[in-house]
Amino acid sequence: MAEKGIKLTIPDLLAMAERGERITFLTAYDYPTALLEDRAGIDMILVGDSAAMCLLGHATTLPAKMDFMVEITAAVSRAAKRAFVVGDMPYMSYQPSNELAIRNAGRFIAEGGADAVKLEGGARMAERVEAIVKAGIPVMGHIGLTPQAQSQIGGLKAQGRDAETARRLIEDAKVLEEAGAFAILLEAIPARVAELIVQRAKVPILSIGSGAACHGQLLIVHDILGLFEAFTPKFVKKYADVSSVMLQAFRDYISDVKEGRFPGPEHTYHIPKEEWERLQELIGDE
Ligand code: KIV
Repeated sequence: MAEKGIKLTIPDLLAMAERGERITFLTAYDYPTALLEDRAGIDMILVGDSAAMCLLGHATTLPAKMDFMVEITAAVSRAAKRAFVVGDMPYMSYQPSNELAIRNAGRFIAEGGADAVKLEGGARMAERVEAIVKAGIPVMGHIGLTPQAQSQIGGLKAQGRDAETARRLIEDAKVLEEAGAFAILLEAIPARVAELIVQRAKVPILSIGSGAACHGQLLIVHDILGLFEAFTPKFVKKYADVSSVMLQAFRDYISDVKEGRFPGPEHTYHIPKEEWERLQELIGDE
């Protein structure tokens, strides 16, 4: 494995999967969060289009724009000294054509400093995956609950819970691997179905809500920190209640200012005595 501070690469991730070392994966959308995740030793960071919901307050991921995604990916990449950074291709940045997909994937690498891109969809997106990989850009596949297709798949709910759709997911994973995906993310599919995919795969299979058999686990940082309040998926484990800490800090600041406890002398700049006296002379009796 790469040493602390040395960038992880795709061969490192493959080696981790092969020797059974679980890959750790979190989203980040900004420099300070990515800095802390990297310092904590996270292996991979996804700059997800979930930023549209977690940061911008949209109800879905669909309004995420390329310029916005590239800008926040660049901030995360500046912070990630060791973690492998994946830029998430937003809605309609890759669906229309291979050429558009290659151009936009290229922006994530050249302008965003990402190590790879992720796009949603199985067999129907294999042609795009192949085109981007042939252009020299690593692609992570994403199947199961694919939020950009939420109205087609019946909302933000688990997928592959009947034999036919489960069989299709197994096929999708195979087709994406054949198209050149370096890893595949499974979102919200039954653990036993994910296990079948892992058994058949030669690339790392990552899970968000798809069970413990996968080579690695992803969660959304705002979910684990208790910063996203609209809803909490079943698969989320909350590791901290950061919103309570923030709320208390904001309340303390407001009452300190209202009651005159802030700023104190220690937060205030002072003019040296002689300069103060000179100033008095300069302004006279005004
Ligand atoms: O945008 C995102 O964070 C994602 C995850 C939900 C997989 O795509």
